[in-house]
Amino acid sequence: MEERELGRSGPRIPAITFGAWPVGGGMGPVDEATAIATIRRALDLGITAIDTAEYYRTSESIVGRALRGVPRDGVFVATKVSAEPFTRARVREALDNSLRALQTDHVDLYQLHRYPSSVPLEEALAGLADAKESGKARYVGVSNFTVDQLRTANALYPIQSLQPRLNVFDAEAARDLLPFCHENGIGVIVHSPLAKGLLTGKYRPEDRFAAEDERHAMPRFREETFRRYLAAADDLASLARSRNLTLVQLAIAWTLAQPGATSCIVGAKSPAQVDEHVGAIGASLTAEDLARIAAIGASV
Ligand SMILES: NC(=O)c1ccc[n+]([C@@H]2O[C@H](COP(=O)([O-])OP(=O)(O)OC[C@H]3O[C@@H](n4cnc5c(N)ncnc54)[C@H](OP(=O)(O)O)[C@@H]3O)[C@@H](O)[C@H]2O)c1
Repeated sequence: MEERELGRSGPRIPAITFGAWPVGGGMGPVDEATAIATIRRALDLGITAIDTAEYYRTSESIVGRALRGVPRDGVFVATKVSAEPFTRARVREALDNSLRALQTDHVDLYQLHRYPSSVPLEEALAGLADAKESGKARYVGVSNFTVDQLRTANALYPIQSLQPRLNVFDAEAARDLLPFCHENGIGVIVHSPLAKGLLTGKYRPEDRFAAEDERHAMPRFREETFRRYLAAADDLASLARSRNLTLVQLAIAWTLAQPGATSCIVGAKSPAQVDEHVGAIGASLTAEDLARIAAIGASV
């Protein structure tokens, strides 16, 4: 597996990070044996970084069970504090809860899930600083910040990495956040590269999602909007076939080709899905292909 440096003087992590929201049940039920087999397959294939969060239902404890017997220094484990307020005390308590669920004494990356909405930024950053100084987090980062929020945060406390949404249909981060991170030595681990399944080619406009699947409530997965995204996905799938890739692989390769992207967090619910993700590594898309893909994505 290709590895890249996460931020200035940061650790080397795989180009693909395992996204553990689906194995926690966020995109429909996944039985525990399948969830654990999926994580184990990812590790076997060199996807030795895992992203989870306090809010990902059963995800942290499933990851903890999947990692039993795996040498701790062989896996880069990232999690997040999700429940606000991000006071210093809450960040400390959330990290301790996560460590218990993950069955470990430290995480490799601890992140604020979003910009704090109910305490000053300084307070939340003090919580991250405590996490690092205590040795319970090797590195600290943030997720879903704007450029202005990230600039302010990084001036107050060095931010190792950002986790923004980035995929062919949601390319805003490639225009402003990634260049900013690149210039400032901040690593970028992008999330939702498959647009939560829109970029897999398997859905049809008549498909519906179960109530416990987050997509049930998302306007993109309904009616005319769903139809438009799926039509664009069909165009992208044709382009993928002409490059001997699947749509899933093209979508992952496109995010990894964006300057400034360090790793791409892909969610999976089965070992077979992970097998397909790995095929994106080494895909060669020309500058013309990348521009064509972006244009199709922006046309929706
Ligand atoms: N920081 C944040 O706010 C934030 C937000 C979202 C996600 N994330 C992180 O980013 C990760 C990735 O995002 P995500 O999991 O939400 O969405 P995603 O990676 O865009 O899509 C994952 C979903 O696509 C489908 N899929 C994956 N591989 C496939 C394959 N080979 N063939 C067919 N279908 C496939 C699966 O669902 P189905 O089979 O049911 O279609 C899977 O659950 C998360 O797990 C999480 O770690 C972070």
